[in-house]
Amino acid sequence: MEERSLQPKKVSESRTVMTEMVMPNDANPMGNLMGGYLMRWMDIVAAVCAGRHCEAHVVTAAVDHISFQKPIRVGEIVTLEASVTRAFNTSVEVYVEVFSSDVKGHNPRRCNHAYFTFVALDDERKTPIEVPPVLPLSSEEQTLYESAARRREIRLILSGRIKPKDATEVRRFFADLG
Ligand SMILES: CC(C)(COP(=O)(O)OP(=O)(O)OC[C@H]1O[C@@H](n2cnc3c(N)ncnc32)[C@H](O)[C@@H]1OP(=O)(O)O)[C@@H](O)C(=O)NCCC(=O)NCCS
Repeated sequence: MEERSLQPKKVSESRTVMTEMVMPNDANPMGNLMGGYLMRWMDIVAAVCAGRHCEAHVVTAAVDHISFQKPIRVGEIVTLEASVTRAFNTSVEVYVEVFSSDVKGHNPRRCNHAYFTFVALDDERKTPIEVPPVLPLSSEEQTLYESAARRREIRLILSGRIKPKDATEVRRFFADLG
């Protein structure tokens, strides 16, 4: 295994931005970007971000909260921004936001977002390995960091990996709401 640091890292150290132009081949019969193509780009930008943070090979373990709020037309420019929110033991959560505009940069809009979970693997690409913590600095980074623990518990409940009674963060959240 190559030398890698497990020191806490700033979100900015692995933030990744990807820009694409929607080509006719990327579209559905209505002339809008096909959801599956957008998910592919989101997975790629998120994987690059996770790989940079973890300094390791990563695999997608889960994706949640993808919804397509606004259609993106052929010829438009799509910008995908990926940032780590929080690292756990061998997994890291990445937040991806998708923006689009016309080719002149006009009519900019936020089209969707999603949370991806990646697991870091050793150089044999088999065994999960420890990942460095995330150091949240801005208030937005802090908010995403804190809420990541709840999102993790919810996806572990839904995938049958933990029991709802063991979801301490989720229980605390609802208890605080009264
Ligand atoms: C992801 C994978 C490596 C996890 O393997 P595993 O044997 O379950 O490993 P572990 O039980 O040690 O879990 C490893 C981490 O994955 C997380 N994890 C596993 N399944 C998860 C899920 N459905 N949602 C969120 N996290 C998950 C665990 O919580 C753990 O994270 P932690 O160490 O930070 O707590 C394995 O399921 C895999 O290889 N999946 C296929 C990945 C892939 O090919 N992706 C591309 C799309 S096909």
